[in-house]
Amino acid sequence: MTKQEEIQKLKEEKDAVILAHYYVRPEVQEAADYIGDSYFLSRKAVELPHRTIVFAGVTFMGESARLLNPEKTVLMPDMEADCPMAHMVTKETVERARAQYEDLAVVCYINSTAEIKSWSDVCVTSANAVRIVKNLPNRNILFIPDRNLAHFVAEKVPEKQFIYNDGYCPVHEHIKVEEIRELGRQHPDARVLAHPECSSAVLAAADYIGSTSGMIDYVRKSEAASFIIGTESGVGCALRQARGDAAFFFPRTEPVCAGMKLVTLDKIIDVLRNGGNEMKMDDRQTSAAAKQTLTRMLELGKGMEIKNDKRAVL
Ligand code: 13P
Ligand code: SF4
Repeated sequence: MTKQEEIQKLKEEKDAVILAHYYVRPEVQEAADYIGDSYFLSRKAVELPHRTIVFAGVTFMGESARLLNPEKTVLMPDMEADCPMAHMVTKETVERARAQYEDLAVVCYINSTAEIKSWSDVCVTSANAVRIVKNLPNRNILFIPDRNLAHFVAEKVPEKQFIYNDGYCPVHEHIKVEEIRELGRQHPDARVLAHPECSSAVLAAADYIGSTSGMIDYVRKSEAASFIIGTESGVGCALRQARGDAAFFFPRTEPVCAGMKLVTLDKIIDVLRNGGNEMKMDDRQTSAAAKQTLTRMLELGKGMEIKNDKRAVL
């Protein structure tokens, strides 16, 4: 039996479903039932009937699935698979801003720990941040932890006043605008797509800025034949699947998320077989507050088109 076959068999036996982010290894994406961006995956986690969710992603994704589904078992193939940005804000930053602005909304990117979510008013992902912030009644917005996404949203919602925090994604921050420009010179007809976690210099060079699913959707609808991609290289699988006829170019210094790459087929087999690495939330108060922040996002995002709502077919 191949590893893929073993996973399919174990999933049926355990009434389990595998959710995967686009940045995980290609063979893990192949084993998944659903692949998507953070927004899609959090929506999917609440809709699915299975008793067990195996989350092929980083800690904050498994935590969010568990917060939204306390009655389900959420298994993490590797407990060390973490997102460094998810920790990059202090409680003092939030408390200081709350003391300073009476009408403050604390908006937290889903790439954050449950504790950070518990200090916040509403959660957002890169796919819905502009829409949700625009619709908040508050004028003052503390956006945590990502400064790059915060600046991107602030530009789209100029009527709000933003307070920034100094968090960033090391993978996207290190995408060099010089490498994007170099690719642009080599492929002058290519469209440049960038994730909003990239630096403002990279975003200024982009034809399209959006979430991973947003990029795939753009590519699918575009008439262009080549694309320069400013995000983690794992998304290449879905891009090539969306447009087998197109060429995709990633920066010379390959953007690789170490946490996402920790998820392997062997680790998925292990947790499915033995039920280890269960995501647990011990602190009830923190969990309740963090859940509210996530639920508010799902409520405010209602009616939003969910891209890539389909079974993984790689
Ligand atoms: P998406 O929600 O766009 O998939 O982004 C998640 C992420 O971690 C980007 O670094
Ligand atoms: Fe976190 Fe960056 Fe990895 Fe996304 S790519 S999970 S933001 S470290």
